[in-house]
Order: sequence, then structure tokens, then C-alpha cells
Amino acid sequence: MSKSTLPRRDTRPGGRNWPLLLATLIITGGSAKTSSIVMLAVTLALRGYKVRVFDFDHQRSASHIFCAMDELPAGHGTIYDLAHGAALDECSVPARYLVAPADPEAGTEAEYEEIENLSVVPGSREVKNFDTESALDGMLQNWFRELCDSYEGDDDVWLLDLPASLSKWVVSALIPFQEEDEVVPPALVTSKEETDLKATFEELADMRANLNRHSRRRKTEPTIRHILMCGTPTPGRPDSEGDRTVESMKATYGDSFELHRVRWSTVIRQQHRRQAPVHAFGASNAAPIEDYNKIATALGFVDQNPA
Ligand SMILES: Nc1ncnc2c1ncn2[C@@H]1O[C@H](COP(=O)(O)OP(=O)(O)OP(=O)(O)O)[C@@H](O)[C@H]1O
Ligand SMILES: [Mg+2]
Repeated sequence: MSKSTLPRRDTRPGGRNWPLLLATLIITGGSAKTSSIVMLAVTLALRGYKVRVFDFDHQRSASHIFCAMDELPAGHGTIYDLAHGAALDECSVPARYLVAPADPEAGTEAEYEEIENLSVVPGSREVKNFDTESALDGMLQNWFRELCDSYEGDDDVWLLDLPASLSKWVVSALIPFQEEDEVVPPALVTSKEETDLKATFEELADMRANLNRHSRRRKTEPTIRHILMCGTPTPGRPDSEGDRTVESMKATYGDSFELHRVRWSTVIRQQHRRQAPVHAFGASNAAPIEDYNKIATALGFVDQNPA
């Protein structure tokens, strides 16, 4: 079967007006959430989908990599303003990557290149206030669902970079999730995250039960079908502990979920410092590009611009 005859992922499941939602979440810091969102965002944009990344993390790593934070015009909206009623367009910027950094000695400014089909809602430190605010105003927690309900644009998919907790802020992001949407946990196999994955499943189940107990409206159904095993050993970087984690994850989750390998790669570690996704500086066959291409296909995002 040729690529173009594969079924395209339905990016408006059930005929709804807002795009498919996809979030990386695991209750562990430093576990490839942002790396995976950045790689998937660029991969899907290159495949012809119209993608918007929402940076929910107060650390703003995704905003930094996509150059959506520095040099924001004064007063430009962030995700915090969006949560408080600002318009989506006023809180979005085109994703960019850094081509040449500013050189104050030579008097030159930074040069950027825009990434087609990809926009970013920049993160904000102020989101730390959200939990306190929503304790005072219960309606605030529904802001993202309201944004979804009122959306009239033509985006295909919204990718959410979430921080590593199920705070009220993160729950507000997950409220509109339906069964067709996906929460994708990335776990670094070099770390202790196998246990954190178990905790993530439990916390999501609790969240679902709490939110849906009294709900006659749409249910919140954050669904996990795919799990990413990130930083897997390679011939050039053998790691017997990593191999054991991969085997153990396969034994625990392999029957119920699709597991994907993202090989250990130094190039992916450079995204943050370079303020550019691997696609902008890695060879086109770099391991992470290959691996996230496979993941994009497994998630159902057939390439709409096959070479
Ligand atoms: N496939 C990989 N190979 C090697 N290193 C990786 C890989 N994926 C991610 N990393 C590295 O792991 C570290 C954590 O990644 P990342 O920042 O994406 O995690 P995170 O879950 O978003 O962290 P945080 O909780 O701080 O938001 C980074 O240094 C990143 O470069
Ligand atoms: Mg992150």
C-alpha cells in the first residue's frame, strides 16, 4: 500500500469544531516531554498538518526552542492571557528557529527562520498563579474546554507540552480530552521512569473519576494508546540498564499499548541550546527524525506531502 492510500488521521473526530488534541505527560521531570512535543510538532507540520503547540510549562522550554519567547512584542499574549480570555490569535506566534544569534559586537540582530504550518502559544511564568486563582473562581478551570468549544479556525492538531504534575492547571488542559485524543507518556529508559509511568496511570484514572463523577456533559477521557521509550541504547551507546528497562516495559505494557523506541541521540540534546528543532540542524536522516517519523505514522498522521 502506498503512503498516500493510508487512512489520514481524523483531525476533527466526531465532526467536532476543534482539532485533535495530543499531550505529552508523565509525572516525572526531565523525561523527554518537551523533546517529544517539539519533534512531533515539526514532523507533523512537515507532513502537511496545521499544528499549534501550547506551552503549559512555566519553564517555557518549548517556547524557547521555537523562539516564541524572546523578542515577543511588548504586551503580546501568552498562554496565561489566553486562559484569562484573550483571543487565540493574540496569544500565538509563528514557530521559528535561530539561524544566526545576535552579535552585539558586530551590531547584528538575531536571524530567525519561520517553520511553515506551525504556531506556538508561548508559555508564561504566571501560570503558577492559576491554581490559587481557580480555587477562588471555579469557572476558570474550564477555560481550555471553552476555547475548544468556541474555536473556528482550521488547525488540524493541537500539541500540549505539559509540566510534570496533575495540578489544577494541567487538569484544565486535559478536561476537553475525548477518547480520540491522546495522552502520550514519554519515559527516558535511562532513568527511574518506569515506576513514574505507573503513578501517571493511577493519577489519570483518579482525575477521570473525579471529573466525571458528577458530569452529565461530555466526559473527560484522556486516553493512552502509545508509550514512548526515549533514549534507548544504540550500538554506539550501549547501556545494559537501559536494555533491561526496555525489556521490562515491554513485559509490563507491551500487550496493552503500542511501545515506540526513540534512540539515544546527542543531537536531540542540542535543541534547547541551539533554539532549533533537530530538523533545522541535524542531518535529514538523524536518528530522532527517523524515530519520530515512525511515531507520527503510528499515530495515524500519514504524510500528506510524500516525496
Ligand atoms: N532520545 C533522546 N536521547 C538523548 N537525550 C534525550 C532524548 N530525549 C530527551 N533527551 C534529553 O533528556 C532531557 C530531558 O528532556 P526534556 O527537556 O524533553 O524533558 P521534559 O520531560 O520536557 O523535562 P521537564 O520536566 O523539565 O519539562 C534533555 O536534556 C533532553 O535533551
Ligand atoms: Mg519540558
